[in-house]
Amino acid sequence: MKPRVAIVTGAAAGIGTAIAARFLADGYAVMAVDRATRPEDFRVEPGCSAFLQADLADKAVAGEIAAAASALGTVDALINNAGIGGSRPVAQTDDDSWEKILDVNLGAAFRLSRAVLPGMIERGKGSIVHIASIFGEVGYRGTAAYAASKAALAGLTRQMAADYGPAGIRVNAVAPGLIETAMTAKLLQDPTYRDLMLNSTPVGRTGKPREVAGVVAFLCSDDASFVNGETIAVDGGWRATRMKVSG
Ligand SMILES: NC(=O)c1ccc[n+]([C@@H]2O[C@H](COP(=O)([O-])OP(=O)(O)OC[C@H]3O[C@@H](n4cnc5c(N)ncnc54)[C@H](O)[C@@H]3O)[C@@H](O)[C@H]2O)c1
Repeated sequence: MKPRVAIVTGAAAGIGTAIAARFLADGYAVMAVDRATRPEDFRVEPGCSAFLQADLADKAVAGEIAAAASALGTVDALINNAGIGGSRPVAQTDDDSWEKILDVNLGAAFRLSRAVLPGMIERGKGSIVHIASIFGEVGYRGTAAYAASKAALAGLTRQMAADYGPAGIRVNAVAPGLIETAMTAKLLQDPTYRDLMLNSTPVGRTGKPREVAGVVAFLCSDDASFVNGETIAVDGGWRATRMKVSG
């Protein structure tokens, strides 16, 4: 029997690395993709794991990734995790920056989904998870293109769930809150941001990449066989409460 394959984008750092490690531990073959070089602790083993260094902004790359993953086995899971931040308020956003953020965060997820769907449809099985953000659901200052791209991923999730649920494919999203990664390292040094996030997170701390990976693994498992079209926040309760912790 061919191994089950999970494709994980943005796997060279942060949340993507944790997702790739979790899928390997769960017995999947993992096709890891990143524009950065392969991390040393991601071991490439024939038939079990592969790493493709590629820029998802390149429109030709989605087909290459799907083909390389199919060579490992049957693609059961696609995790569209790669993303970039760095956006500004609308009045300070130039066209290049708008297009780049929308393209990497949303366009690449669309293109890669389109590339793997025919195989999933043929087998009548598959799970796609988009990594969105709580900032796609709640307004915050100065992050226009990023928030728009993440809100659009939640919409794409619902739409794809409707289109492909009848074919046996479930599509969900995870919206992380403040997770400690390279993307947030600088933000966490900003006292205003830190206060806003940590003082209004009921569990009173930042999240770890593996805590996002666990929810992604659940969504791709049979335990989530009736979960479809959802965007699940993994944020210690921030979005649900934005509770002010006193003291
Ligand atoms: N860290 C958080 O607090 C947080 C919160 C909400 C959502 N997210 C989302 O989670 C995902 C992962 O975030 P992270 O914190 O691990 O970020 P990160 O910056 O630590 O890692 C992102 C990875 O994606 C890769 N990548 C970026 N653009 C790419 C491209 N064009 N082609 C190929 N690879 C590319 C980077 O090289 C990097 O390895 C992102 O989509 C991010 O928006 C993160």
